[in-house]
Amino acid sequence: MNTTTSTTEKLSPVELQFMADTVAGLKASPKFMQSKYFYDAHGDSLFQQIMDMDEYYLTNAEMDILKNYSEEIAKLISAENTAFDLIELGAGDATKSIHLLRALVARELEFSYLPVDISAHVIGDLEDNLPRQLPSLDIKGLNGDYLDMLGKVSSFSGRRKVVLFMGANIGNMNADQAVKFCAELKQSLAKGDLLIIGFDLKKDPRQILAAYNDAAGITSAFNLNLLERINRELDGDFNLGSFEHYASYDPGTGSCKSYLISLTDQLVHIGENETIQFSAHEPIFMEISQKYSIEEIEALAAGSGFRCQQHFFDENNYFADSIWVVDEHSAQVP
Ligand code: AVJ
Repeated sequence: MNTTTSTTEKLSPVELQFMADTVAGLKASPKFMQSKYFYDAHGDSLFQQIMDMDEYYLTNAEMDILKNYSEEIAKLISAENTAFDLIELGAGDATKSIHLLRALVARELEFSYLPVDISAHVIGDLEDNLPRQLPSLDIKGLNGDYLDMLGKVSSFSGRRKVVLFMGANIGNMNADQAVKFCAELKQSLAKGDLLIIGFDLKKDPRQILAAYNDAAGITSAFNLNLLERINRELDGDFNLGSFEHYASYDPGTGSCKSYLISLTDQLVHIGENETIQFSAHEPIFMEISQKYSIEEIEALAAGSGFRCQQHFFDENNYFADSIWVVDEHSAQVP
């Protein structure tokens, strides 16, 4: 009769989903995990350290774009002179978007800033810190999945929408997932709404690989932290010393992938019911960080019902923030 274990009884709904996703990924062949689960409090702090690394060029490149072009982007946003919701998906600490927020506030535009993040602790920090830097900013944080929260906003607000999806977060999806995500995102938007979306561009393969295979081992710690999180939150018994981070970049497809490789034959338990068997050298696929060409960005926009209005680049052409408009002529996606 009683099929529920004491472990699963103690889990919150969020942890139950984490449990279900983790077990499904580890029972699949090949094994995989979902990179959205990297971002617990320790994962957030490791990602901050990644952004500060010399090898991780992405942050500086996009910062460069926001510093140089926020005025111009604010002008584009205010071309239609009506109140709007500015919804930022995966807001993080907003150190980049604050430049755009400043430019929008300076123009005295009527808007609400609605940052969405999977990490509750990131949202709390933002709501504490941003009002100190921009007292007149109307901010309301939303903790949850991107599309769930976007859908929620469009159900209670009739304002036009500007969605920010920066930081190359789209890179965590493969090509099929990306087009599906953008098409789904468009379903919560109306004709003329904007999507400002950041892409890491294809470049010297060695430079890309180095960003995900840093000498100090921070990216390795970032990946291993997910095993630690499973140990802590789901009562797992991963031995962190028995797995090794491996990053690869394929310049043909633009896919940068990271894996944790099992160093031995081993059994890992999760909670009281789950046992996962690993063979020596068996990989767990942890994350994709997809790199794009301009043609691929434009194909993604067209394929998901948007029209590309403009691209902004950093001075090295490492990164692009692209402005997409919901295309009135686009076909509805099935
Ligand atoms: C936050 C998804 C943009 O893929 O570059 C950094 C995450 N992973 N180093 C990326 C990440 C390893 C990052 N994104």
